Amino acid sequence: MDKKRVATLTLDDGRSVELPILSGTLGPDVLDLHNLSKLGVFTYDPAFFSTASCSSAITFIDGEEGLLYYRGYPIEQLAEKSDFLEVCYLLLNGELPNATQKAEFKSLITHHTMVHDQLARFFSGFRRDAHPMAVMVGVVGALSAFYHDSLDINNAHHREISAHRLLAKVPTIAAMAYKYNIGEPFVYPKNKFSYVENFMSMMFATPAEEYVPNPVLVRALERIFILHADHEQNASTSTVRLAGSSGANPFACIASGIAALWGPAHGGANEAALKMLEEIGDASRVKEYVQGVKDKKYKLMGFGHRVYKNMDPRAAVMRQTCYEVLKELKLENNKLFELAMELEKTALSDPYFIERKLYPNVDFYSGIVLRAIGIPTNMFTVIFALARTIGWVSQWNEMIADAEHKIGRPRQLYQGAVKRDFVAESQR
Ligand code: SDX
Repeated sequence: MDKKRVATLTLDDGRSVELPILSGTLGPDVLDLHNLSKLGVFTYDPAFFSTASCSSAITFIDGEEGLLYYRGYPIEQLAEKSDFLEVCYLLLNGELPNATQKAEFKSLITHHTMVHDQLARFFSGFRRDAHPMAVMVGVVGALSAFYHDSLDINNAHHREISAHRLLAKVPTIAAMAYKYNIGEPFVYPKNKFSYVENFMSMMFATPAEEYVPNPVLVRALERIFILHADHEQNASTSTVRLAGSSGANPFACIASGIAALWGPAHGGANEAALKMLEEIGDASRVKEYVQGVKDKKYKLMGFGHRVYKNMDPRAAVMRQTCYEVLKELKLENNKLFELAMELEKTALSDPYFIERKLYPNVDFYSGIVLRAIGIPTNMFTVIFALARTIGWVSQWNEMIADAEHKIGRPRQLYQGAVKRDFVAESQR
């Protein structure tokens, strides 16, 4: 029997407590802080730089080595050999599906892609030029109003139905948000298409002509979905977990994840990165722009990461995908791609970025690929949300299935006024 490992914390007044040291199957050990309450002190870790908020078996990241595993499978292998629905099955259930399981799962999701017809009325309440992410937050949250039959989150079968409904319907809602934004009629799902083909059909088909998916673009978008599917306890996933810990229904929880993802420091970075490339405009301006970053006038969007202190493994796959798509579309001399590679080269050879371990992240190249596929900039984060829905749902499901889980309720370091008596208005 291994000897229990502990860390002893001793305060300046001599009081101490033993904190068990826990090890995972991969990654750094953690200190179990449950006993800390005996000392009447809290830990202080704003933005959670050194805090593990939960235990999970879904995704593992090694920031120093630039590794990303979904249920143990390296992201590079999944991006090359798998497809998005198979990765969804893996994230949700923990194992790759056999042929029968895969066929059943595909059929199940395919036959849940339509949304309640009254959901379409939610769109008309938005301005046509509303940001599609605002529409996504509202309409996905509104799904809570349609599925009262499966909201007992402690019922595993209800959780599974909700997971399938979200996985199937978020692409439909995302495409509807795009069509509403450009003033074209909604396009219904078509069961003859694969998951990604169907999304592209709902995005780009019109009633006037049959849509024929381009297999190279479908493969590229499939890869983008796989790369964005899950990523440990990032800001939006942590938001979903915290919302879910109160017992909120899964549709409301996913809507909270979409809201958190929207920020430019998180999922909004792909939109911001492309806008940055357009603002730089030409490779001749790269050095001047990088100087502005070093003068802390602005951040290099699509660069840096809280965990990765090496190249984001997703960025490398995304760069290769970018090259393949531009080649297929005969856009090899795409100015934005050339600019992005020049910016990457300049930044990666500059001590400012090297010292701070700032490397391209998943958002640096994704915008160029999405633009080349024909997806407008204001839909980039919607694509991220669509792909990340399976990660959010899988992490939410893992938490609720743990009978030990409790409502999340952090404490604080209070820096406000000490106790004082009320002052009458005449005395103020
Ligand atoms: C995603 O968490 C996830 O897993 C997220 C994600 C996922 O799949 O869920 O991977 C998706 O959100 C990727 C990140 C996308 N965001 C961006 O590309 C926006 C630009 N990046 C930065 O905002 C920043 O890098 C963060 C937010 C991603 C991480 O910031 P941290 O960990 O809080 O680091 P920091 O801000 O403390 O930076 C440390 C230093 C600072 O300089 P000094 O104060 O030491 O001088 O690095 C600098 C920062 O100013 N820095 C940057 C920079 N990122 C950090 N300087 C210029 N450009 C940048 N992009």
